[in-house]
Amino acid sequence: MSEPPHILLLNGPNLNLLGSREPSIYGALTLAEIEARAAAHAARRGARLSAFQSNHEGALIDALHEARAWACGVVINAGAYTHTSIALRDALSGTGLPAVEVHLSNIHARESFRHHSYLAAVCVGQIGGFGWRSYLLGIDALLGHLGLLRED
Ligand code: DQA
Repeated sequence: MSEPPHILLLNGPNLNLLGSREPSIYGALTLAEIEARAAAHAARRGARLSAFQSNHEGALIDALHEARAWACGVVINAGAYTHTSIALRDALSGTGLPAVEVHLSNIHARESFRHHSYLAAVCVGQIGGFGWRSYLLGIDALLGHLGLLRED
């Protein structure tokens, strides 16, 4: 039997505080709860998911480089690095891994400094505004892009 597709779920700065951080914007679930729901969703789709979070730009970049060896694609919520990090964008495009950008909140309905994403142009697409469900939608979007959803 062949190995199931393996997705990297990458979360950036301050997302370790989910659950207590501005719950009116980001919801009440902790990151561990979201990761568990994302892993269960991936499993329902016949995929595997490994999650990593860091508050450090370089650690996120290292995780992307390492994922070249094992991941079929990336679901990424880069937090505020979305709006600042050319280095993370270069890492995403440099790995060549297909990526879906996700956000809990609708970044386009918030402060203008959140409207621009350095990552969007090197991702397959962007999903935001659906709270923790953005992650599940991101997994489906990635698997659909790869032709790995059952209905494909
Ligand atoms: C976020 C949106 C970003 O603007 C913010 O800096 C975050 C979380 C989201 O998931 O809605 O940290 O990526």
